[in-house]
Amino acid sequence: MAVVDTQRQGEIVIIRMDNPPVNALGHALRLGLEKAFGEANADAGVAAIVLTGTGRFFSAGADITEFKGEMKEPHLPQLIDKIEAGSKPVVAAINGTALGGGLELALGCHYRVAAKDVRQLGLPEIKLGIIPGAGGTQRLPRAVGIEQALQMITSGVFIDAKKAVATGLIDSVADGDVVATAIAFAKQQIGKEPRRIGEKRIDKASIPADLFDKARASIGRHPSGPIAPKCAIDAVEAATQVPLAEGNARERKLFREAAASPYARALQYAFFAERQAANLPGIAPDAKLRDINTVGILGAGTMGTGIALAFLNGGFPVTIVETTQEALDRGVDRIKDTLSANAKRGRITESQAADRFAKLTPSLQMDDLEKSDLVIEAVFENMALKKEVFQKLDKIAKRGAILATNTSTLDVDEIAAVTKRPQDVVGMHFFSPANIMRLLEIVRAEKTANDVMATAMGIAKRIGKVGVQAGVCDGFVGNRMLAAYGNEVQAMTLEGAMPREIDGALEAWGMAMGPLAVSDLAGLDVGYRIRKERKLTGEAAQFARVPDKIVEMGRHGQKTGAGYYKYDASRKRINDPEIEALIRSEAQALQIKQRHIPAEEIVERCLLRLANEGAKIVEEGIALRASDCDVMYLNGYGFPAWRGGPMWQVDNVIGMRNAAEKIKGYAATYGARWKIASLIERLAAENGTFAGVDVKKK
Ligand code: CAA
Ligand code: NAI
Repeated sequence: MAVVDTQRQGEIVIIRMDNPPVNALGHALRLGLEKAFGEANADAGVAAIVLTGTGRFFSAGADITEFKGEMKEPHLPQLIDKIEAGSKPVVAAINGTALGGGLELALGCHYRVAAKDVRQLGLPEIKLGIIPGAGGTQRLPRAVGIEQALQMITSGVFIDAKKAVATGLIDSVADGDVVATAIAFAKQQIGKEPRRIGEKRIDKASIPADLFDKARASIGRHPSGPIAPKCAIDAVEAATQVPLAEGNARERKLFREAAASPYARALQYAFFAERQAANLPGIAPDAKLRDINTVGILGAGTMGTGIALAFLNGGFPVTIVETTQEALDRGVDRIKDTLSANAKRGRITESQAADRFAKLTPSLQMDDLEKSDLVIEAVFENMALKKEVFQKLDKIAKRGAILATNTSTLDVDEIAAVTKRPQDVVGMHFFSPANIMRLLEIVRAEKTANDVMATAMGIAKRIGKVGVQAGVCDGFVGNRMLAAYGNEVQAMTLEGAMPREIDGALEAWGMAMGPLAVSDLAGLDVGYRIRKERKLTGEAAQFARVPDKIVEMGRHGQKTGAGYYKYDASRKRINDPEIEALIRSEAQALQIKQRHIPAEEIVERCLLRLANEGAKIVEEGIALRASDCDVMYLNGYGFPAWRGGPMWQVDNVIGMRNAAEKIKGYAATYGARWKIASLIERLAAENGTFAGVDVKKK
């Protein structure tokens, strides 16, 4: 099928890109465009050209899958330069999403008209660890001004058609058919010299003197790592210094520099890993899903209210059920307050907040869940209570409804077994705050039906979450890996690494927050209660001594103003010599000799414990693939995307053989907790990688 279609309407040629699913500008499409523009320019009967896309997409940009190999000609930058240089007016009819190279293509056209409902216009390359490479850093500043362009290019944000017209990115918004509007626009330009953005001179006087210095100084903890943001700023600055052709050449050099960094590879891996996670083996991508239009939630506590918000924000009507009026009112107030806070911050409009709240039905009757297509249980973490609730739900819920539990530790098979429909039961493990965190761990129990899994995955996407499948085990995937990580952190404190050193090392490496600071944020009492219930012995009991004593001192973390650290009124963390003394005295009591642990060792031990546990999870079939473990860490645990994830680090930075040797070395020093995963041993022997492990042949 042709990826470019041309149609003639009098003196106008309409060139339509048609390269599903997203009109990525792969080789075939670039060739097609080169040919279509070449013919239109050569045809004396053609006076103007309209360029448009198909369906929801104008174009999502370069074909990312081509980045790995050598790009074939025609290259996009040259193609765009040729379009801009043409003497016949070219109007981009932006019918849908225009991102990256797609927007750069539109910027090469002489005029731009966008459909009213277009919401995704932007240069998101930075999120892939690269910078716009087809003139975007040179033409966008000329179209919208330096400050706006710098902000868009260094953040990768999308803007909608309304904002695009206000900034000057597009010339007008089409209320009706965008192609018809573009044709009318093109007709008015016939015979005139086309307007070429690339020829525009930037007025340097209007640029704040310290703009670029300030931008460089703020790169610090950029989500794309240190290289791409620096390259992006340099490239935009070039637009203020040199003409287009020279600026494009500089952009090209900086693009290559960013693309060659491991951070770009990590971010591109993360992009595809996230999409791969949605592929469930044995379930066709077009499998029939269950119809989910209404959602019921049991429990209006921390999680129930967050989950309710996530679904209300996704447009679903939600019924939320509690046991007492007081608990229900508290939950409903929290939902209302969050919606109005979002409106006050300008994230949504007042009327959107009101519409969403109007879709909430609070209730004290479980029977009110009889019409819900999906029910999510978020009551206290107690097996007897969960079983009672599921037995009741089994009687109330309609046939075919999906019954989900948000348990973070309990056996979903055991919960499913109390119903007569275990095939309809699934774990939907949200992360707190559930309306914000992107990760949704979807726990497949032994009897969960395929269509329930596929529907849960689809629901994740509909509410803006990243769904990842996990099997049943203690902690599922994410928290099981976290337990190994936390265990090593406790070991290192006793060995002499103070909280500030552990958190400092991991934060300097890129983690959003160090593990002990995270514990203070989440509340130390939660883990304390679990440890007391589990009655720990041996090494685990030793490692519990410091955190238990901290809780017993009344320090439950940020909520009590102190935990591993002290906190001032603005929640700023302050090192506390009292805790450092406590750690030293516990180590002495346990006869553990303390030493200085270098930052590199702290990071290495954390990473290897995470990856070793991840490997065990993969070999047990609890995770479908190693990349799923990474997707969880990037979306639920503050792992920096530009570092790829713990599994990617082993494959690409540490090396499988090296990892195996190091793990064995640590096992010789520290014993059983460092037992090597047999998958790592095998892959090291075969010179293999986690990425090469076949999902079915694990
Ligand atoms: N190249 C190759 N494949 C792409 C792609 C791209 N630019 N964008 C999306 N796809 C693929 C996805 O991998 C997915 O494939 P599978 O179905 O096989 O998993 C499919 O298209 C649909 O994508 P989504 O599931 O993400 O669809 P969506 O509707 O939820 O989102 C989107 C669409 C907003 C465009 C999103 O896919 C996205 O953000 N894409 C990346 C856009 C981007 O970063 N563009 C810049 C590219 S770099 C560039 O252009 C450099 C340059 O300067 C020349
Ligand atoms: P919570 O204590 O804040 O809320 C639980 C709510 O359930 C309470 O308001 C309670 O009144 C209500 N409830 C109890 N029995 C009920 C019943 N029979 N019917 C309706 N409502 C009932 O607890 P939280 O933190 O919201 O946890 C809920 C579940 O989510 C637990 O299973 C927990 O393990 C899980 N979870 C918690 C996370 C967290 O960070 N808090 C993260 C992920 C999962």
